[in-house]
Amino acid sequence: MSLEGKIALITGATGGIGAATVRGFVAKGATVIATDLDQALLDALAASLPADKIVTLAGDITEEALNSQLVDLALEKFGRLDVAFLNAGIGGELAPTHDYSTAMFEKVMRINCTSVFFGLKYVLRAMLGGNGGSIICTSSVQGLQACGYTPAYTAAKHAVMGMVRNAALEYARHNIRVNAVNPGATDTNMMQVVADTLGHGNPDKVRNAFEASVPMGRYARPEDIASMVAYLAADESAYITGMPHVVAGGMTTHWCTPMQLPVN
Ligand SMILES: NC(=O)c1ccc[n+]([C@@H]2O[C@H](COP(=O)([O-])OP(=O)(O)OC[C@H]3O[C@@H](n4cnc5c(N)ncnc54)[C@H](O)[C@@H]3O)[C@@H](O)[C@H]2O)c1
Repeated sequence: MSLEGKIALITGATGGIGAATVRGFVAKGATVIATDLDQALLDALAASLPADKIVTLAGDITEEALNSQLVDLALEKFGRLDVAFLNAGIGGELAPTHDYSTAMFEKVMRINCTSVFFGLKYVLRAMLGGNGGSIICTSSVQGLQACGYTPAYTAAKHAVMGMVRNAALEYARHNIRVNAVNPGATDTNMMQVVADTLGHGNPDKVRNAFEASVPMGRYARPEDIASMVAYLAADESAYITGMPHVVAGGMTTHWCTPMQLPVN
């Protein structure tokens, strides 16, 4: 599978899934416009890749102007934008709905949902002026199901699915595809924060419990998610639009795992 010659915008680019996707895209021949909050981390990522394959711009993706600047940067430097991976996100608090802070609810919605709308808005404008393209938004298994204690995250990731389906319909005739990737528990800072928060000094206990609930018995590696994103960006997925793409080791197949039943 090749991404040779493709120009791709990636948000949340220095995070676990984002950085793995940047590396995977560059290895497959793409040139990447990478954005995240911290310029020093973006510089470190860029230093590990061929200089002509990555351009970086730091900023807060919840600022509408940054989204437009990133698209302008792609058009100025490369004349077009073929792919966008709208991936930045946070987990927010872990609390039942009646205790969940309103400020945190609004923050999670702003980063995980509103910024995806901003990304879609400006990326679509650029792609409409070109030959089409592929947009991949990071939802989650929590964009399809709930696990509790995450009212904002679950709402935002379901909202991403709605925006994906809506945009896929609106732009299918323009050869612009819009899909979601729906990771399960993935071995990044986000799951580490969950383990630290719930673990009360014993994060491994939480990790082990999560992994035991996954049929394949392990977290996803960031590269497992990046492979799906590369496929959705590539011409091999040319007839796929408006769909979730679950990468979760079998997590969404069941209401309980055989390992949880008192058999044998
Ligand atoms: N790790 C998981 O288990 C998991 C599962 C399902 C979905 N996801 C989703 O995958 C995406 C990537 O998460 P990850 O697991 O790589 O976690 P991560 O924390 O390693 O990466 C998230 C990145 O988003 C960036 N970001 C956060 N707020 C931002 C803002 N306001 N402006 C710009 N950048 C911002 C962070 O700086 C970070 O680099 C997120 O959307 C997350 O919700 C993760």
